[in-house]
Amino acid sequence: MDPFIVCENLVKIYKVADLEVLALQGLDLQIEKGELVGIVGTSGSGKSTFLNVLGGLIQPSAGKIRVDGQDLLKATPGQLDSYRREKVGFIWQQPARNLLAYLTAQENVELPMTISGMGLREKQTYAGELLAAVGLWDHRRHKLAQLSGGQQQRVAIAVALANKPALLLGDEPTGELDSATADEILALFERLNSEYGLTTVIVTHDQQVARAVGRVITIRDGRTSSETVRRREVADSPAASFDEFVVVDNVGRLQIPPDLRNKTELGDRAIVSLTEEGHLLIKAVAERAGSVNGRHADSAMPDTAPPNRKRPWHFGKK
Ligand SMILES: Nc1ncnc2c1ncn2[C@@H]1O[C@H](COP(=O)(O)OP(=O)(O)O)[C@@H](O)[C@H]1O
Ligand SMILES: [Mg+2]
Repeated sequence: MDPFIVCENLVKIYKVADLEVLALQGLDLQIEKGELVGIVGTSGSGKSTFLNVLGGLIQPSAGKIRVDGQDLLKATPGQLDSYRREKVGFIWQQPARNLLAYLTAQENVELPMTISGMGLREKQTYAGELLAAVGLWDHRRHKLAQLSGGQQQRVAIAVALANKPALLLGDEPTGELDSATADEILALFERLNSEYGLTTVIVTHDQQVARAVGRVITIRDGRTSSETVRRREVADSPAASFDEFVVVDNVGRLQIPPDLRNKTELGDRAIVSLTEEGHLLIKAVAERAGSVNGRHADSAMPDTAPPNRKRPWHFGKK
């Protein structure tokens, strides 16, 4: 069976006036049902774009993206609408984006249930359960303005769960919180994930998330570049340890981490070979006389010859 999320060679191009911005340039990843995954990367690397594609808020330009068997590239606007309403819970950096300030916590959580046509009793019971699950039962009658930032984000999480989503997405949900509160919110995501098996993807620019989440995927320039996976705890070492992997996509492409690339002075070509132990060896091309910028002059195509140079060949002529 397909993994819950399958994303292959995903491309998203934004068109702004005459400019094209390549936000995702061939992103590959797979996420299994019930996984909790962190997405990290510098600002502008394409994290929000990817999350918005996953959430059905925008459509990708090319590639493949399937969530729970549904093709989000080929979906019609109507299908995308129901996907978003029925399958996805979204949490943003600013809790206010999901919430109404003049309503109580309970009323905020009931609102999407009212919209989806849930009956009064069922709605009250379920909203109460969700508020208890996020640790806000005692504050359910408080207006939003009477709650702290962390408590508001808990309400936002309960609201995101109101449609019983199969996929919970958070775009920098701890970005505006102090680090202690951020840790509590991450712990809440972890608990919801382990108790309800809710597939969860959290975007962050904060590397500390790696400690809270078992699997962290790094996006660089709109591509999956590396992955950090928490190693199974060994009995005599209480501290969790992590393995960092470079992602190899299904056609064999990988990104060499910039620090290693700089250390080896790898140009734009490399020699790849197999060692006797069966490892792959990636070696910089040694500088040769006549090479320009690491490229050999003899590899230059005829088209790169200066236009006024007399060409020694005559196609179609004797
Ligand atoms: N709506 C948009 N229109 C045009 N360009 C956009 C839009 N949203 C994002 N971008 C561009 O796409 C790239 C990736 O942005 P984004 O996905 O927001 O990255 P991140 O969340 O990692 O900071 C950036 O160059 C950004 O300027
Ligand atoms: Mg972003």
